[in-house]
Amino acid sequence: MSKQGVSAVTAILSLGIVGACVDTSEPEEVAAYEQGLLEEFVDAIPNNFPIPNSNGAAASYSVTTAPRVALDNEFFTPQGTNGRDCGSCHAAEDGWSITPTTVTLMFLASAGQDPLFANNLDTDTPSCDMSTVAKRWNCTTMLRQGKFTRKVAPPATRDYDVTAVSDPFGISTTSSLWFFRRPLPTANFKSHTVMWDGANTVGTNLRDGLIKQARGNVTGAQQGAPASDATIFAIVDYEMGIGHAQTHGIGTGTLQAQGAHGGPEAAVEQPLVAGRFDLFDAWKKAGSPHRRAVYRGQEIFNNVNAASGRRCGGCHNAANNGQNVAGTLFDVGASNPEHANADMAVFTITQRGTGVVKRSTDPGQGIRNGAFADINKFKTPNIRGLSARAPYFHNGIARTLREVVEFYEESLGFQFTAQEEDDLVAFLEAL
Ligand code: HEC
Ligand code: HEC
Repeated sequence: MSKQGVSAVTAILSLGIVGACVDTSEPEEVAAYEQGLLEEFVDAIPNNFPIPNSNGAAASYSVTTAPRVALDNEFFTPQGTNGRDCGSCHAAEDGWSITPTTVTLMFLASAGQDPLFANNLDTDTPSCDMSTVAKRWNCTTMLRQGKFTRKVAPPATRDYDVTAVSDPFGISTTSSLWFFRRPLPTANFKSHTVMWDGANTVGTNLRDGLIKQARGNVTGAQQGAPASDATIFAIVDYEMGIGHAQTHGIGTGTLQAQGAHGGPEAAVEQPLVAGRFDLFDAWKKAGSPHRRAVYRGQEIFNNVNAASGRRCGGCHNAANNGQNVAGTLFDVGASNPEHANADMAVFTITQRGTGVVKRSTDPGQGIRNGAFADINKFKTPNIRGLSARAPYFHNGIARTLREVVEFYEESLGFQFTAQEEDDLVAFLEAL
């Protein structure tokens, strides 16, 4: 990958004046931004290299390209025609997802001409007018929340009908649903379920699912011709070999101190087995109150919550990873319209025969397999490296980890004391 064109450094340094100069004359050529921010600066980072976030720092560990995390391979090479690559939406510095802040920076650095914003693929509406900077800004309100378009038709074989649609952007119909999702991180893969709704799952074979996903992305989001097997396998081997996790916490210091085993190397080496989180067992009697809080939060996560009869770790049951070992998708209520933002579409879905109705901002698994019973079910995501990749849930409705915990209290009946809530948040921040 060559560092051609205006560098992101220059761009970032000039952010202060972007606002002043954007709406004068339009650049004739599309800016040469083809990747996320970090890979504009460097071709690799060392394994375990901490990158700051608001709760401390997180790092990646690559088994495939050790002792470094390559940022210049096929994953970061545009495979199609629009300049996007996998790293455009899966950035190491954002926990292999992409945050609203980074999308906004990319917009400002490129006056909205980075490939992220290419060809109306992920704009608020499919034919939004992108001819000036101001218009591009107004067309990308969902992208700037770190969310990307999905346009899905209900399958021919199904036991429900979409009977009503309310879409603030006016795009969805009852036969074509338009909604927006957060990129799942391309790290810490354990379960075989691929995509929020399982769309690219292939049996129980994770690698085959990732191959299907990568092929579809090259011809879809990157608008390319089919890529060679060699290219696809290089991408998949790379992403399967990446661990990502928090390395340092504010107050706790390094998350590997005193016998704890946080950090990305342990995360990528963790076998896929059902089990409790035990990363912070050694901090049960730590001298530091911050470390003891992380331990207590871990146990709140692991154990049954008396009020709800549920366990966080009941669904997030892959040991020290948090995906679901069996690849099961669940409805935690994140698609429930009562939790929706005003800019989300709401779909009314009626079961054939019974007339039973579900309302949804994104039907998840049920939009793929046609089963009313699976409407609003989503992949149980890995929960390592959370601090680097807010906001949370498939639609980003929780802006912080505290909002995640509050969401579960409202949605699934979990009840925590103020102290328990603080402890659980401290644990999630340390993952
Ligand atoms: C334009 C942005 C964008 C680009 C480019 C992109 N992705 Fe994604 N990726 C997403 C979004 C959004 C999701 C979640 C969508 C969903 O589940 O419906 C996702 C999901 C995934 C998943 C599913 C992860 C899981 O836990 O199930 C994998 C794997 C993945 N992407 C790999 C890649 C690879 C490999 C490439 C390059 C070939 C790529 N992505 C390019 C936005 C992007
Ligand atoms: C019924 C199964 C289930 C239970 C119980 C559960 N989760 Fe989840 N969790 C999920 C699923 C499924 C998702 C994805 C939901 C979505 O985005 O629609 C999720 C998402 C998350 C996320 C967001 C991850 C991301 O990348 O956006 C966090 C954090 C999380 N859960 C933590 C917890 C905590 C803490 C508890 C206990 C208070 C808990 N979960 C209880 C199944 C569950």
